[in-house]
Amino acid sequence: MNRLPLLAVAGCLLITPMVNAQGKFVANYDESKIPAYSLPDPLVTEAGEPVTDAAMWIAKRRPELLQLFATQVYGTAPPACEISHRLVSAKKAIGGKAIRREVDVRFGAADEAHAMRLLIYTPKGAEDSVPAFLTLNFQGNHSVDPDPTIALNQNWMRSRKGTVKNNRALAAARGVAADRWPVEMIIDRGYALVTIYYGDIDPDFDDGFGNGVHGQFEQQAESIPQKERWGSIAAWAYGLSRALDYLEQDKLIDGSAVAVFGHSRLGKTSLWAGASDPRFKMVISNDSGCGGAALSRRAIGETVGRINTSFPHWFCDNFLQYNRNEDACPVDQHQLISLIAPRAVYVASATEDLWADPKGEFLAALYADPVYRLLGTSGLGGSNPPAKMPAPDSAIKTGSIGYHLRTGKHDVTDYDWAQYLDFADLHLKQ
Ligand code: GCU
Repeated sequence: MNRLPLLAVAGCLLITPMVNAQGKFVANYDESKIPAYSLPDPLVTEAGEPVTDAAMWIAKRRPELLQLFATQVYGTAPPACEISHRLVSAKKAIGGKAIRREVDVRFGAADEAHAMRLLIYTPKGAEDSVPAFLTLNFQGNHSVDPDPTIALNQNWMRSRKGTVKNNRALAAARGVAADRWPVEMIIDRGYALVTIYYGDIDPDFDDGFGNGVHGQFEQQAESIPQKERWGSIAAWAYGLSRALDYLEQDKLIDGSAVAVFGHSRLGKTSLWAGASDPRFKMVISNDSGCGGAALSRRAIGETVGRINTSFPHWFCDNFLQYNRNEDACPVDQHQLISLIAPRAVYVASATEDLWADPKGEFLAALYADPVYRLLGTSGLGGSNPPAKMPAPDSAIKTGSIGYHLRTGKHDVTDYDWAQYLDFADLHLKQ
């Protein structure tokens, strides 16, 4: 097998100060100031044994890495709960090309169980069930399309001038995020789009884990050591898995051909959902950065210490011990991508999104490649992995690992979606 040498970076030995005179975090963007680090090898067990074949990966190394990510990074989620669902609305949409439905999925059978609302677009007149993109959104299902019949979500939302006041969405929020959701393009290519407001699952603020699904599963969480309890990313991923439980029952959707997609913090979430739930056939992380696709040890742009300070509720408490001490963490993010193998994974970056470390995102995809090849897939870029990062706007999308660096800022654009659709054609439509 063509093994890639894992990087041992002899960077600067003096760790650069991360705070200025006023105590404010200052991101490093200088490659020459990356601290020295060595990456843990996905294909060597914690006991130091090389992983030589697929059977050993499946029986030994994969479970051990999964456990490390659960206990050291994202936290351990409760076991899958039973779900129940209710159709809320159904109508024609997109000029008659699609059916759009709203379906409430509950975390349990009881009427009072916590619920999330799925907004589902399926191509009208499809002869068979179709593959789907399952996604979380930031601003409510009503932000995805201006259609005034989509219910205006009234759960807690971060206030935004003109569209969310006192943490409640205003009618002006309808369609505000439509740029990121090319529903017609997705439908025209024969796919369903399923989206959920992420705050339905767990509101995105630090409340000591009382609200959202955390509140409902408080008792189960008590049996887990405090520092290993699930953070919000694990809660959102849990919601995605329960949404998949529902999609497996939905006759219009092929539950065995679902891609989980997310942008930014929700890209971190799609990676963890795809790593922890092998039913996801394909995983897409768009500009996910620190705690997502970017290698933590590079400590460039956003760092572990910074993310744990700004968003203390995203990860488990054990992750705090790696603040400014990334090299001590037993795992790094190329191993998270490896956990998705041999299923298809796509990592995307943007040239101006230096906070998310595009190079670190690319390297994590590249260093997951040996696991994909061990499992008999084409890995990154087909027969041989690329020697260097591709030029902007030239997607690598023929193997089982896809990657592109889009020109522009931290966002989701039609260019990004066009690549994901091409990639999905190869992996969800065989
Ligand atoms: C912040 C955060 C990132 C995150 C992003 C987002 O910028 O530092 O880690 O990806 O928010 O989710 O929008």
